[in-house]
Amino acid sequence: MSALSALYKEIALCEDCELAKHRTKVVPGEGAEDADILFIGEAPGWYEDQQGRPFVGPAGHFLDELLRSIGLRREDVYIGNVVKCRPPANRDPLPAEIMACRKWLDRQIELIRPKVIATLGRYSLVQFFPGDSIGKARGTARKKEGIIYFAMYHPAAALHQGSLRKIIEEDMLKIPPLLAQAEEVREEEHKPQQLSMF
Ligand code: URA
Repeated sequence: MSALSALYKEIALCEDCELAKHRTKVVPGEGAEDADILFIGEAPGWYEDQQGRPFVGPAGHFLDELLRSIGLRREDVYIGNVVKCRPPANRDPLPAEIMACRKWLDRQIELIRPKVIATLGRYSLVQFFPGDSIGKARGTARKKEGIIYFAMYHPAAALHQGSLRKIIEEDMLKIPPLLAQAEEVREEEHKPQQLSMF
């Protein structure tokens, strides 16, 4: 069993916050275990709670479309959420719920070791950059502790506010150059050290 599959078993048993009481299925996340890029949304919705899989409802269909626009499939990337259980009536997750769930996200990041983390929406962004504004951060990339963080609006935002669709589509197109850049940085870091012998 892979380390990530073992982690899913642990997550499935989690009862560290109130959300555990309401869930149909836990939604740990899915995708390539060695993905170069990790997309992090907010919390499972109704469809995700039913299936135990992230981004399988309308926002997920848009995310699939966005991935296709840069030649990627779900299997090529990793998709997860800040919290792993659906908040009742799709309300926003509470600070205590986010805090209780944070350990799982941290362990996923440790195991997957992505080069790029694309945060989808404000809740995901502030996990890594507390106090940041999504309106200002979206479409920008920053490097922190060896990972490039790229902020995007949440795909669901385009479903509520059509004018954001184009912005999200354009932001997605910035990801392939970021991945290429991240690749160069890692190669540079892993180059054998030149020993000066003379
Ligand atoms: N919205 C999210 O943030 N995550 C999902 O998995 C689905 C919708």
